[in-house]
Amino acid sequence: MDQSQNAILEMRGIRKVFPGVVALNNVDFDLYGGEVHALVGENGAGKSTLIKIISGLYQRDGGTMTLNGKPVDFRSPADAIAERIKVVYQELDLVPTLSIAENVFLGHYPRGRFGNVDWRELNRRATELVGSFGLDIDPQTPVGQLRVAEQQLVEIARALSLQAQIIVMDEPTSALSPAEVDKLFSSIRRFKQSLCGIIYVSHKLEEIYQVADRVTVFRDGQCIITKPVAETQTHDLVNWMVGRELKEFFPKTEARPGKTLLEARHLSAGRLHDFNLTVRAGEVVGLFGLLGAGIHTIARALFGDVSYTGEVLLDGKPLKPGSPTDAISKGLGLLTENRREDGLVPFQSVQTNITLVALQKFASGGWIHRRAETQAAAEHVHRLSIKTPSLRQKIRLLSGGNQQKALMARWLLQKPRVLILSEPTRGIDVGSKVEIYRLIDSMAHEGMGVLVMSTELPEIMGIADRIVVMYEGRITGEFTRAEATQERIIAAAAGMTGNGRPEEAVAA
Ligand SMILES: Nc1ncnc2c1ncn2[C@@H]1O[C@H](COP(=O)(O)OP(=O)(O)OP(=O)(O)O)[C@@H](O)[C@H]1O
Ligand SMILES: [Mg+2]
Repeated sequence: MDQSQNAILEMRGIRKVFPGVVALNNVDFDLYGGEVHALVGENGAGKSTLIKIISGLYQRDGGTMTLNGKPVDFRSPADAIAERIKVVYQELDLVPTLSIAENVFLGHYPRGRFGNVDWRELNRRATELVGSFGLDIDPQTPVGQLRVAEQQLVEIARALSLQAQIIVMDEPTSALSPAEVDKLFSSIRRFKQSLCGIIYVSHKLEEIYQVADRVTVFRDGQCIITKPVAETQTHDLVNWMVGRELKEFFPKTEARPGKTLLEARHLSAGRLHDFNLTVRAGEVVGLFGLLGAGIHTIARALFGDVSYTGEVLLDGKPLKPGSPTDAISKGLGLLTENRREDGLVPFQSVQTNITLVALQKFASGGWIHRRAETQAAAEHVHRLSIKTPSLRQKIRLLSGGNQQKALMARWLLQKPRVLILSEPTRGIDVGSKVEIYRLIDSMAHEGMGVLVMSTELPEIMGIADRIVVMYEGRITGEFTRAEATQERIIAAAAGMTGNGRPEEAVAA
């Protein structure tokens, strides 16, 4: 980064107010060509709001914004796109029915001599671009058929095709595998060389140290500090973000497992093959695997959401296959990794979203005790520090991480006998992560069985009593808390059996 040159983007005294919330208060932010400027902060700190102002989606209520020295006032996303500003959103905005190629070049298709779309050229260029990310997929595939990770890479290919001068990435790695993250980072380095400026939002602080040149910390809509990354350490970032010292990252107490609550026998679904697992009362079982290993499919199969062969028993009673309703009524809870598909009722209030499943707890004689319902919702909003102006706020207006926390609250309130949590802290800030770990621990202590699927190794190692590792739909290792080491788990996740000796590698 060359600080002597002028900033591409300069924002001064930016203010944005929503009913009941000051999302941004007198914020300064700037971006140089060829730098990666990371933006971090707790859930609801205002990161996405700043980005939406840069992208023309929101209009600021105060402050100034200049682009290459000249004042700008974006009235719509089209204005920002015209200035070659490309945002890869937290929620993807590809058109699912269009092909990869069409999505990459949406709005600027290559044209033939007579102004007609040159489809061959379109496909050729798309193949080249998409291929440069190591994505080996026919560019004519509809985007709706891709995995989230692949869609993300299409979004980034689109940014390249636009020859953007500013690229904004809002939590881009939340659904990527380590190999895909590497590809993303090398494309980021490529963007830097072309003197493009990159704004990088993430809750994964280790990523900041891998890709970013400078970092800005937001707290409660205010800019706390901007510094070169090299002059900071993780614990500084955490302190600036949460405004206090964070102790005890994984609050974990000794487990006393009781009787078997959940049992999967010979489960096969999709690429899952003959999967057997038990979860006992009072136990936290961690299921670890790299993306594509099948850990997320298991969550859905156990819940009856994906069809399977084999049997799932809850407290000895078989669950009806293909019936989430049956699973819930028998005492199973599921928080999936995908909050948008996951029963978030966007146009309903925060309260309704939290009390949705547990509603019968507040019902008697045909009445719902609204006061008890409100009280329970309020308690959970407080416990998980969900940032919302009121319980009546529509949940879709909450920040991404706070929506996720509300879904978590839903299951905490329901208190199922076995709770399946798939990527429970994806998109959640460091402070709230600790709170969620504490809650998982205390629920297990009260006798709940918890099954956690995560692609994050430190998380699994920090909270699980027993760790089951998967590779390509099969179990390749199982470790007690005492046995588990990072090396052993990684070896198992790479397809080597439990003791990590390559000669026992599982045949594909
Ligand atoms: N359209 C909106 N209407 C009302 N309030 C909003 C709207 N958009 C954002 N907010 C509020 O503004 C604040 C900042 O939200 P923002 O989405 O910018 O947070 P964030 O830093 O991106 O958080 P996260 O890490 O959870 O994604 C939050 O309190 C949020 O509820
Ligand atoms: Mg956000």
